[in-house]
Amino acid sequence: MQRRPEPELMTDPAQAAAYAAADFSSAHNLFIDLIRRTFGPDLRGPALDLGCGPGDIAIRFARAYPDCTVDGIDGAQAMLDAGREALAVSGVADRIQLRLGYLPPSGAPVKPYPILISNSLLHHLLEPMVMWQSLKHYAAPGAVVAIMDLVRPQSEARAAELVAEYAADAPEVLRHDFYHSLLAAYRPSEIAAQLEQAGLGQLQIELPSDRHCFIYGRCD
Ligand SMILES: C[S@@+](CC[C@H](N)C(=O)[O-])C[C@H]1O[C@@H](n2cnc3c(N)ncnc32)[C@H](O)[C@@H]1O
Repeated sequence: MQRRPEPELMTDPAQAAAYAAADFSSAHNLFIDLIRRTFGPDLRGPALDLGCGPGDIAIRFARAYPDCTVDGIDGAQAMLDAGREALAVSGVADRIQLRLGYLPPSGAPVKPYPILISNSLLHHLLEPMVMWQSLKHYAAPGAVVAIMDLVRPQSEARAAELVAEYAADAPEVLRHDFYHSLLAAYRPSEIAAQLEQAGLGQLQIELPSDRHCFIYGRCD
């Protein structure tokens, strides 16, 4: 099945509100567990969350790593706004800054971050190299990299099965998003080719579930 891109930025306030209100605890906890399993419990310093959306990943990461601060960047103001309330009551808001910004960043690489995380951004990008350019722009030498995203299934029928299995009770707007995100996702072989092209071939790719891939390692 060919990849079918979906709109890059989530600028619709209704879509953003539904996304922010959804319970993504299973997938988002999986991401944090993968980070802990791979890099241990002692990460410290500033982390950057690429395509942070309403900030649920930033909040879970900040709770898991009390010696980290988290900066999030997202191109959709609607998504940042939708997460404002959850952030305010998260108990970790003093260590999180979410800001509007479109990727890829412009200008010379700044490389201030020893930790780079991102969940569910890659499949939104029309040009996937934007992810890897952004990593190289922001990652300090030796930075920890942890990225999770969906994997495109073999067929539309399989995508529909996954929606039925994992989002049966979700609102229609989220079921629609999930289905189209599956069709827009990259496959591990495609991601491996992107990493080679970007000079990031040292990063590893793992499949931790029937619909996710985890890309991890360290930047040079
Ligand atoms: C599916 S959401 C994931 C949000 C969050 N990471 C999470 O896991 O809940 C994808 C996010 O990427 C953002 N995005 C897509 N393309 C972007 C770009 N080129 N620059 C910045 N943000 C982008 C969208 O606006 C959206 O908020």
